[in-house]
Amino acid sequence: MAIISSKQPEPQKPGNQKPDDQAAKKIPSSQPQTGQKNQLLESSARADEVSRNEDGIRPQSLDDYIGQKALKEVLQIAIQAAQSRNEPLDHLLLYGPPGLGKTTMALILAQEMKVDCKITTAPALERPRDIAGLLVNAKAGDILFIDEIHRLSRVTEEILYPAMEDARLDITIGKGQSARTRSIPLQPFTLVGATTKVGALTSPLRDRFGLIQRLRFYELDELTNIILRTATVLKTDVEESGAMEIARRARGTPRIANRLLKRVRDYVQVKASGPITEQIAGEALELFNVDPCGLDWTDRRLLSVMIENFNGGPVGLDTMAAATGEDAQTIEEVYEPYLLQIGYLQRTPRGRIATPAAWKHLGYEVPERPTLVTQADIKNPDTNNGTDQLSLM
Ligand code: ADE
Repeated sequence: MAIISSKQPEPQKPGNQKPDDQAAKKIPSSQPQTGQKNQLLESSARADEVSRNEDGIRPQSLDDYIGQKALKEVLQIAIQAAQSRNEPLDHLLLYGPPGLGKTTMALILAQEMKVDCKITTAPALERPRDIAGLLVNAKAGDILFIDEIHRLSRVTEEILYPAMEDARLDITIGKGQSARTRSIPLQPFTLVGATTKVGALTSPLRDRFGLIQRLRFYELDELTNIILRTATVLKTDVEESGAMEIARRARGTPRIANRLLKRVRDYVQVKASGPITEQIAGEALELFNVDPCGLDWTDRRLLSVMIENFNGGPVGLDTMAAATGEDAQTIEEVYEPYLLQIGYLQRTPRGRIATPAAWKHLGYEVPERPTLVTQADIKNPDTNNGTDQLSLM
């Protein structure tokens, strides 16, 4: 399988109007097929992420993949059925918080189907020629992975509809009155879309996916096993209790678990010796500001601002962003899902609330909560989005 990853579009050069492959490029494999890595090292974050698998910590098959049991079962059936019909896999939409393995799963699907996987991200597909190039160059059964698919431009999305449904590329040639539409047949391919915001997809796009699957946060034992597996790949000695201590602080997320493991490995190398034990893992992660629940500095700041400045909420997302200096989208997509999952945050129609568990965790005394009422609640209880100023009654 070749992995081809994408870069952001470059300014269009004059006189070069042909559909091309600007949004994803391929480089020669530096490893044998068994290594399954034929990677492009480019400057985009997407490409960086793929290239970071150089140390081989991404699982290469469904059997190697730990966790997401229900998803694996669904995909196993889809793979077997498609292979026995000699057809490509159905289009697949994967959604869930970042770091849970959406890209990894797309790469595994390509391995299992023995096809190539092209990796790109919606912001790299701004112009029609970006997506056209990828589609024209896809071979039968190939997987096209589009990350952040909720951010596709309208024109790119409209090109995808006939491509997904009928393996057809409709392109418009010329402008104004002389414009004509031409259809180019494509090889049937599989689109794997990934998003952290499934609700932000348009329904025509969502409806064209045969499989829509959610990735959930990982359990403690699953993360522990992922860390033990990664430690083996990295040739790092870790005791099971050490792996579990890291897992406890990894926010249910393999990407974070593997990142923390690498930080603890550094710590052991410099400050200690021997295997990673529970105590050493705890010490190291304390030093890196990751608390026993996995909250980092930003999580704690979000919660403490809610508690100290807004008496625990409700507080609107934009107000939170302004008060903490964090980007609203990052708060919503990166920080909130885990805080919601562990019950430290609640989303209500009037805004976010820090729960009593969050107050306790951060060392605040839980108050007898006053009733919080907004002017908008009084006028119209249904339409307030939580961004109003609060008054206490
Ligand atoms: N590394 C990252 N995610 C993994 C997973 N789900 N299984 C095994 N190794 C992993």
